[in-house]
Amino acid sequence: MKYDFDRVIDRSNSYSIKYEPSWRGKPDDVLPLWVADMDFAAPVCVQEALVSRARHGIFGYSEPDAAYFDVIRKWFEERFGWTMERDWLTITPGVVNAIYIAVRALTKPGDGIVIQQPVYYPFESSVKKTGRQLFVNELVYSGGRYSIDFEDFETKIKQSKMFILCNPHNPVGRVWNRDELAQMGEICLRYGVIVIADEIHQDFVFPGHKHFVFAALNRNFADITITCTSPSKTFNLAGLMSANIFISNKELRDKFKWEYNSCGLSQPGVMGIIACKAAYEGGAQWLEQLLDYLAGNMLFLKTYLSQHIPKIRLIEPEGTYLAWMDCNELGLSPQNLEDTLVQKGKLWLSSGLSFGKGGKGFERINAACPRSVLQNALERLKNIEWENTERK
Ligand SMILES: Cc1ncc(COP(=O)(O)O)c(C=O)c1O
Repeated sequence: MKYDFDRVIDRSNSYSIKYEPSWRGKPDDVLPLWVADMDFAAPVCVQEALVSRARHGIFGYSEPDAAYFDVIRKWFEERFGWTMERDWLTITPGVVNAIYIAVRALTKPGDGIVIQQPVYYPFESSVKKTGRQLFVNELVYSGGRYSIDFEDFETKIKQSKMFILCNPHNPVGRVWNRDELAQMGEICLRYGVIVIADEIHQDFVFPGHKHFVFAALNRNFADITITCTSPSKTFNLAGLMSANIFISNKELRDKFKWEYNSCGLSQPGVMGIIACKAAYEGGAQWLEQLLDYLAGNMLFLKTYLSQHIPKIRLIEPEGTYLAWMDCNELGLSPQNLEDTLVQKGKLWLSSGLSFGKGGKGFERINAACPRSVLQNALERLKNIEWENTERK
């Protein structure tokens, strides 16, 4: 079956936070390419499975069966060479929620936690809101690419109990390679630091790159790791609130489960189970076509920027569908950049500042939309009279 990713689907009045700008204090006429969900319909197999389950009409307490686990295991085995066991799994309402649970379960107030900014903002919140101490190993931006300062990483890890890894990395688009992951893992092992590996973007990897499951690199890494996965990014199911968290170390898993239960959580939502199983079972072809389309969008974005708005530089993404753009050459303050994008450009992107250290002067654009929508966004960006924008 050939999927049509060019089709523009009206998402207004569908409870979408992306498409209700006024709910977040933005003008109604902004084009929203901010939050990380896609403007594409989920695979037909997922839609059909949900409709069929909805027709059943009874939505009582539910739990997944062995077949649910088997399709997930197959997906990870075939794609990443990782074989997990069923009892490693806890289903949570989301990855962010699992990160909070892991932080509470496996560290104490005051303990140090390392993150690598600029990074997905809930990482910082999960540290600060739980009263842990934030250590930032800021990524190094040089020559249009990001890398890790391992010396600084080790200095921060030494003082910490936990590290939250983002792989592939949102927003800088790095797919950490085997050596980088191994180096981070060895340092964490050396200092007895637990790793939360957020691998939610695992399936969005562009040609020439490969995703490595951190816990699969080495048995010792597996022993210190909470691996957070979810079909929600891959198949656009975020509203169904379901994530699969794998912990092979029983001691860590028991603590995680205890905390999970102490939040009053027990059974997952039935629609999340149905969608996840259908997606991993039948969504491979859809994903393959989606990845081609997204690679095309990224190329379009890069070409457009270099031809029409050369002062905005795209950081070449290795993975994810989020593009990180360096707008520093425009010479605007972060607030001025934000205001100009929204007021003059009628564009709602994610401000670089929200990703913490290293985010100043950057914007993140969500490229998971039909190309005509991306083109519209880029035309809005081009039509801003940057030269005439007042410097505040
Ligand atoms: C790195 C990362 N982790 C987690 C999430 C959100 O996961 P969930 O909706 O399952 O909480 C996102 C969404 O953008 C993300 O980019």
